Amino acid sequence: MGKRYTIALLPGDGTGPEVLAEGKKVLKAAEKKYGFTIEYTAYDLGGDRYLKTGELVPDSVLAELGKVDSIYLGAIGHPDVKPGPLEVGILLRLRFHFDQYINLRPVKLYPNVETPLKDKGPADIDFEIIRENCGGIYTGVGGSAHQGTSLEYATQVMTYSRAEVDRCLRYAFRRAQKREKKQLTLVHKMNVLTHVGDLWFRAFHEMGEKEFPEVKRDYNHVDACTMWMVKNPEWYETIVTANLFGDIITDLGAMIQGGMGIAAGGNINPDGVSMFEPIGGSAPKYTGQKKINPMAAIGAGAMMLEHLGEEAAAKAVEAAIIKALESGKIKSLAAGRMGLNTEEIGDLIAGLV
Ligand code: IPM
Ligand code: MN
Repeated sequence: MGKRYTIALLPGDGTGPEVLAEGKKVLKAAEKKYGFTIEYTAYDLGGDRYLKTGELVPDSVLAELGKVDSIYLGAIGHPDVKPGPLEVGILLRLRFHFDQYINLRPVKLYPNVETPLKDKGPADIDFEIIRENCGGIYTGVGGSAHQGTSLEYATQVMTYSRAEVDRCLRYAFRRAQKREKKQLTLVHKMNVLTHVGDLWFRAFHEMGEKEFPEVKRDYNHVDACTMWMVKNPEWYETIVTANLFGDIITDLGAMIQGGMGIAAGGNINPDGVSMFEPIGGSAPKYTGQKKINPMAAIGAGAMMLEHLGEEAAAKAVEAAIIKALESGKIKSLAAGRMGLNTEEIGDLIAGLV
């Protein structure tokens, strides 16, 4: 008997449900072939529920999510809700509550995918970004006063404890150790952020020297990193960085690997409940039109399988994505210009698992 996994499905807003349906379809093909089963329970967290009931993540849902093997998320973001409450109240709430302190975002250019980088191909763009996912400026430490007066001010602090930094670095060193080049680049802004940047920098070198001497260490300021990611992406193998910097450079990463339609990520707690998602947003203008690319969601499904320990199945799903791209049947990865609709791409990939 194969293993059984329980997965909480959070389709969310906009095109989230459409892409997640295709992810499920492809995982179903992997279940059959690799002899395991997934049991899904869906939760309607998102903008519609919030607008109807005022609820973001009820405690009862949080308790249930705490019992599953993994969470599979579509997208959060609703055109009728102002920016803030859904992102903070759902996405960040789940990341923080489950202490998903790693955000793993592979940047990999697959064959037949167009990159905006001139003269770069799949051999040049293949690295991983490990973004610290629970701390830093995202924690919300700070405040404001004298609102509405000329004396108004606000602060939002980049806080990091050594323990928070160390656990993220350790994960990153271990990922780097598994890759061919064994090279880890710390990305920060230590020339200006002399307190928090210095903490990351010292922790990085101390841990590297003591625990991972075989991993080559490199350091880039974040502004320089955006430059090198465009100019020489082949220099990168594994990047580790703080929350905000990681947010910014992973969008750049997504663009150089072919766009949001193909970029997948995992919010990982190595000892707890993790959550996998396409990193793009809910694309409300395409809702229900079946124009959006499900590959990012399918790729997130593959990452989830890897995390669950179904490594062969994970590889097969990734290989199926690559075969689908190599088939020449998909004209573009951009929404509405794919030549196939969302469901047809799901069918194509599921058939290749
Ligand atoms: C991401 C998103 C989120 C983030 C937002 C929606 C809170 O941009 O997953 O990268 O900033 O982390
Ligand atoms: Mn982002």
